[in-house]
Amino acid sequence: MRVILCENYDEMSEKAAGMFAAQITLKPESVLGLATGSTPVGMYKRLIEMNKSGTVDFSGVTTFNLDEYYPIKRDNNQSYFTFMKDNLFSHINIDLKKTHIPNGETKNPVKECEQYEKMIRQAGGVDLQILGIGQNGHIGFNEPDASLNSFTHLTSLTDSTIKANARFFESANEVPKQAITMGIATIMSAKKIILLASGASKSRVVAELLNDGINTSIPATLLKTHPDVVLICDKDAYLGAKLGVDIGGTNIKFAVVEGENVKYKACVDTPKTTDEIIDTIVKETKKLKKEYKIKAIGIGTPGVISGGTVTATNLPFKDLALDVEVAQRTDLPTNMDNDANCAALGEVIFGNTTDCDNIVLVTLGTGVGGGVIVNRQIMASNKSAGEIGHIIIDMKDGRECACGEKGCWEQYASISAFVKDAVHAANANPDSVLNKIYEREGRLSGRLIFEALNEKCPVAEEVFDQYLEYLAVGIKSIAMAFGPDAIVLAGGITKEGDKLIKPLRKKLPKDLRIEVSTLQSDAGSLGAAML
Ligand code: GLP
Repeated sequence: MRVILCENYDEMSEKAAGMFAAQITLKPESVLGLATGSTPVGMYKRLIEMNKSGTVDFSGVTTFNLDEYYPIKRDNNQSYFTFMKDNLFSHINIDLKKTHIPNGETKNPVKECEQYEKMIRQAGGVDLQILGIGQNGHIGFNEPDASLNSFTHLTSLTDSTIKANARFFESANEVPKQAITMGIATIMSAKKIILLASGASKSRVVAELLNDGINTSIPATLLKTHPDVVLICDKDAYLGAKLGVDIGGTNIKFAVVEGENVKYKACVDTPKTTDEIIDTIVKETKKLKKEYKIKAIGIGTPGVISGGTVTATNLPFKDLALDVEVAQRTDLPTNMDNDANCAALGEVIFGNTTDCDNIVLVTLGTGVGGGVIVNRQIMASNKSAGEIGHIIIDMKDGRECACGEKGCWEQYASISAFVKDAVHAANANPDSVLNKIYEREGRLSGRLIFEALNEKCPVAEEVFDQYLEYLAVGIKSIAMAFGPDAIVLAGGITKEGDKLIKPLRKKLPKDLRIEVSTLQSDAGSLGAAML
């Protein structure tokens, strides 16, 4: 695959239009495969100008469009029929009888597909195929799947495509659920292919095009086996480095990620004031910019993000537009999200749940935090969405929570709660091993409770069993509410591994997948980089 890297969308459109026009000049009777979507619009605009100025003549060409929603009326203003008319056909000297778009109105889609495929063959096959690319790697409407249908066929759209294309409709509900699309074999039989990609939302899939892998779950990667494909993409879509920043109460972590490869990790102490924190981020970014092609910054911050500002309790942030401040001082596009959400994103992209689309991360620490990932994206992070530590598990005599409620899960399932319960039990059982350890150390911790458990202390066992009950009750609620593919547990105590997980699993439904984070405290900065 040849790659042409352009400065921006306009340059990409200009280059693509140049190649398109050259094809027609060399062969005025060319059969052209056309694409829809927002990406080729700029190229079509340029071609219209070239046609008007007499540089290119469309009178001899035959066209076949890649796809069409199904069912859809031709005159629907979101049909690809209307799209082609508005964006190209009604502005150029093309013979409309020689333009073809799958018929979204047909009563017999199977027959329509067969005929469409036959017409392409009868026309002599496609000389030049233009392609855009979906955020999930689809081409035409060939969605990710274990085995891809080869020829023109009726297909169901994935939820992620419906969501991505909802921007053109009133709502996601209006997006047709099916489409007729050329198949992968139809596309691959084109003599030449131009693949267009623009914007950061395509950078993940462009990175996949640039590595060696071929994978039906990213259908565009199959193009790597075609002998004549040119990828024309703008800088935003092209692999560049992203900087992830995870601000914690004790330290700030940095991670540089290229595609999905981690290139650099660092950790510095968190300074006291807001200005010093911003200075630290800016200084580190400037340093890293010299070494890596950093194109964007993502920041994970504690606290609640609402209306574009963050307010945190354990940091001096109050209504702070942190992303704007950092963007202004670094000249880099900057996004921010809640730190637990970033960690959850980090888990699904880099951790041991990369095979999942939907996960919930549960962080067991001083409190209980977490993030919810739906379709590999952070679930709406405004206000308190994802604040799973504040699920109420005891309404009657619930323990008081700093949030003002009673009975919040974190008052039972956090490490602080576990230790508090253990101290209570140690005091009530002066002869227990647990109490001996407590007296010896002058305190208890997760690790010290496990020391008592290793010595088979019945008091510690009882506290632990109760703790697991608390943990399980919240996890079960989360599983019921979100139905995730997996729940990932993180935090110091999870380093106990099987000692914690095995007995916990016994208290949970068998088919609920529980994983221990392999990234632990790195998840936040890695996930932030992917914002
Ligand atoms: C649709 C089309 C694809 C197109 C994709 C990307 O799903 N069926 O052919 O490539 O959208 O659209 P955009 O260019 O707007 O990102």
